[in-house]
Amino acid sequence: MESKKRYTITSALPYTNGRLHIGHLAGAYIPADIYARFKRITDNDVAYICGSDEHGVAISIRAKKENKTPKEIIDKYHALIKKSFDDFGISFDNYSRTSSKIHHETASEFFEFLNKKNCFEIKKSKQLYDPVENQFLADRFVEGECPHCGFEHAYGDQCENCGSSLSPEQLINPISKISGAKPEEKETTHWYLPLGEYENFIKNWFLKDKKDSAKSNVYGQVKSWIDQGLESRAITRDLDWGIPVPHKDGDGKVLYVWFDAPIGYISSTKEWAKNENKDWELYWKDKNTKLIHFIGKDNIVFHCIIFPIILKAHGEYILPENIPANEFLNLEGKKFSTSKNWAIWIDEFLKDFPNMQDSLRYTLTVNAPETKDNDFTWKDFQARNNNELVAIFGNFVNRVLVLTHKYYDGFVPESGDLNTAEKQILKSAYEVPQLISDALDNYKFRQAINLLIDLSRLGNKYLADEEPWKLYKSGNVEKVKKIMFVALQLCGLLSVLSEPFLPNASKKIRQILNIKEKKWTELTISNPILKEKKQINKPALIFRKIEDEEIKNQISKLND
Ligand code: MF3
Ligand code: ZN
Repeated sequence: MESKKRYTITSALPYTNGRLHIGHLAGAYIPADIYARFKRITDNDVAYICGSDEHGVAISIRAKKENKTPKEIIDKYHALIKKSFDDFGISFDNYSRTSSKIHHETASEFFEFLNKKNCFEIKKSKQLYDPVENQFLADRFVEGECPHCGFEHAYGDQCENCGSSLSPEQLINPISKISGAKPEEKETTHWYLPLGEYENFIKNWFLKDKKDSAKSNVYGQVKSWIDQGLESRAITRDLDWGIPVPHKDGDGKVLYVWFDAPIGYISSTKEWAKNENKDWELYWKDKNTKLIHFIGKDNIVFHCIIFPIILKAHGEYILPENIPANEFLNLEGKKFSTSKNWAIWIDEFLKDFPNMQDSLRYTLTVNAPETKDNDFTWKDFQARNNNELVAIFGNFVNRVLVLTHKYYDGFVPESGDLNTAEKQILKSAYEVPQLISDALDNYKFRQAINLLIDLSRLGNKYLADEEPWKLYKSGNVEKVKKIMFVALQLCGLLSVLSEPFLPNASKKIRQILNIKEKKWTELTISNPILKEKKQINKPALIFRKIEDEEIKNQISKLND
């Protein structure tokens, strides 16, 4: 394994306009959490950064809906989201929010820096205006027919039916979502980022240099954006909710949410570094730092084109090493929908399945929408839990622990010399850390977690083939010691290798085995993870079975 490196790992900042559901977890949080834990446990310097995205029209729309102020909305959902992440066990080093002072300062300074550097164009344009409400209409506040697919409820910035990105003038028969009035055009001035000037930069940095390392779903999307040509993008808006444009002509204008939010990664890092007495700049400006953004596919253009251009325009920042976006997760064959309440909310999941975070982490990883959209079903969740976590992983660990107590009072037996077959099992097992590392370094989470389960499969097969219980009965005690010694090493490895994927199970097994947190870099076959004569504790339940009844309840709850 390689030597210590510095990683800045981010998960997309969730909008504080609703609760978190498992679709969010599957896209940008569980993979990032696995990756961050993996990088920590392989002895790297990691900052895993996130926070709430509290600006933008999504918040204003929610506030209108709930008859509250935007501030009330963000306070409510920031607290709920943060609690869900905590309860679920996502291991952020810092979870901040974009309404914080440090973020307002950081984003404002960023704007001022780029403005001084003449990175922006200032342009007058006609924008849609609601004559009834007397306000400019954000793209999201305009609805109409999609020029590409004919969908009637396309937004001014995007059609959720065909996925094309739009600008509000392209909509057929637009209406204001606030008053229902037909929008008028009115002149306004905005700051634009001339993306076109950076086309060659993006072609080289991404299309050329990331050709082999980018995920194919990400690469394809970026390429099609570039092929369409990059146009200047306004990075200010006529809105009253957001970060005020820090300029004498900025009255009534705020920074575009997609300008300020990614800078939230930087301000959250600053906040963390301040608390931890670290130098934030190392995590954003040092050439040796690897910056990795975990996102869902709807965020690809912002993280692969726009934010890198902002960082490049500034000039002092590193650029992302990779942007491993996931596709979408569906729920029982349909899109997650907050408004239709078609979702599994994290807080409710944890109420109904207390202490079963790992079971959900497992299902969402083994079934991750890594290269294409995927479906979560309650039946599959039950089957994965019962047939894989309980019947394979849990079963192997439990059998080994029970037998160790039965035969040796809970002490690791002295194996003496191992034969070739036994050595071969250990050799295969000790290859797993590198195999899992390689998979994770390539963002192949499904493959990585399958390697973990395969290791417990190997253990089960080994016990089934050797049948130590028969040998014990027939008095072949020396052979049994060897078998149990080998099986115990596999348990030890499982306890350490499961940490990024199943952190709670990992901790439980380590407590039973009396092993401290171990870096994967310390795992070598010549230094057995469980030493002879070491005492281990009594087995305890690691995973529990999920009954049909529980699944039935969840399915009916969904259809309520
Ligand atoms: N809030 C956005 C979303 O949910 C993601 C913002 S990511 C950031 O789609 F980079 F802007 F922070
Ligand atoms: Zn469309």
